[in-house]
Amino acid sequence: MAEILYEDIRKSFGGVEVIKGLSLRIHDGEFFTFVGPSGCGKSTILNITAGLENATGGVISFDGRPVNDLSPGDRDVAMVFQSYALYPHLAVYENLAFPLKMKKERRDIIDREVRRVARLLGIDGFLKRRPRELSGGQRQRVALGRAIIRKPRVFLMDEPLSNLDARLRVEMRAELKRLHHELKITTIYVTHDQAEAMSLSDRIAVIHEGEIQQCGTPQEIYMKPVNTMVAGFMGSPPMNFLPAQLKSRSPVQVDCSGVLISAVTERVPEHDDVTIGIRPEDLTVLSRKTEGSVEVVLSIIESAGSFNWVDLRWGDSMIKGTSSAEEPLEPGGRGFVTIPEDRVMLFDRGTGRRI
Ligand SMILES: Nc1ncnc2c1ncn2[C@@H]1O[C@H](COP(=O)(O)OP(=O)(O)OP(=O)(O)O)[C@@H](O)[C@H]1O
Ligand SMILES: [Mg+2]
Repeated sequence: MAEILYEDIRKSFGGVEVIKGLSLRIHDGEFFTFVGPSGCGKSTILNITAGLENATGGVISFDGRPVNDLSPGDRDVAMVFQSYALYPHLAVYENLAFPLKMKKERRDIIDREVRRVARLLGIDGFLKRRPRELSGGQRQRVALGRAIIRKPRVFLMDEPLSNLDARLRVEMRAELKRLHHELKITTIYVTHDQAEAMSLSDRIAVIHEGEIQQCGTPQEIYMKPVNTMVAGFMGSPPMNFLPAQLKSRSPVQVDCSGVLISAVTERVPEHDDVTIGIRPEDLTVLSRKTEGSVEVVLSIIESAGSFNWVDLRWGDSMIKGTSSAEEPLEPGGRGFVTIPEDRVMLFDRGTGRRI
């Protein structure tokens, strides 16, 4: 078990700084996720934590002890990579047993542990098979099993589910959650998939270009994003952004392509140029006019099963809303939307910060 503290961690490759002063405390037993677009520095942070890369600056500590100078082996971490990195010539049993053999455990203890972990992950039926005789999901379980068998202080996982198909990914997500609940080992997880981050994590750090944009619970990050980067990254389909002009500061009202919209803000806006953000799931399209609704022209209507995603024109922009599956709407036809004013977010257009 371990608490991990990053103090002003920096990393440069060939003069380019890719981690720009990371300071963060990850609590003992926490499931913590770094999420962000490709190239933002997630794997670099994880590799520095594992000891596979050296930080160019800053201190990283496990339970209050700096580990910068410790080799990966001495840090007692177990890492699971995207490519499972199993030994292809060894059976599942031997793959699982490997870390314990390296520790020169007794053979009866190894046997007991291999069987315990295999049962825990539901892979006890294929202990004699080679990795190539397994499905992707089964291989992933073996890779996880190999990581948990030696009870490390910290689990580090770099996009471990990204090679799996959508359904297996969701299944393995649940598996990871259950495992973490059972083992309670500090886990640092990396993904570019915001839905995966939301569903797995106790807390999330959203990274952009080597810097933490926001750190908080999934709920905090979703409900109170600090800026347009976080707001646009968390949620799928992404939040709609529309340019608007401030009309009144108290109460806050903006003009958005000729429609006056009130918004609940935490601060008084400084500038008149703002961006409003509305999540597609908060924008309901109806076929009939209701009080306060705005008429719009519809474009694409996409079925999501129980409801539809509806693309509609708003001023010069195309935005996305939802409708019930039964609503009689036609592509190219008219519809009516009501702006949910308590769900509208306002951002400063210059800085992108939420107001
Ligand atoms: N060994 C290296 N030498 C030079 N540049 C590197 C090296 N490793 C990573 N980088 C650069 O550092 C930046 C961060 O890379 P990193 O692999 O941490 O991103 P990431 O967030 O994990 O991306 P992805 O989601 O694509 O895996 C990128 O711009 C990358 O090109
Ligand atoms: Mg990566």
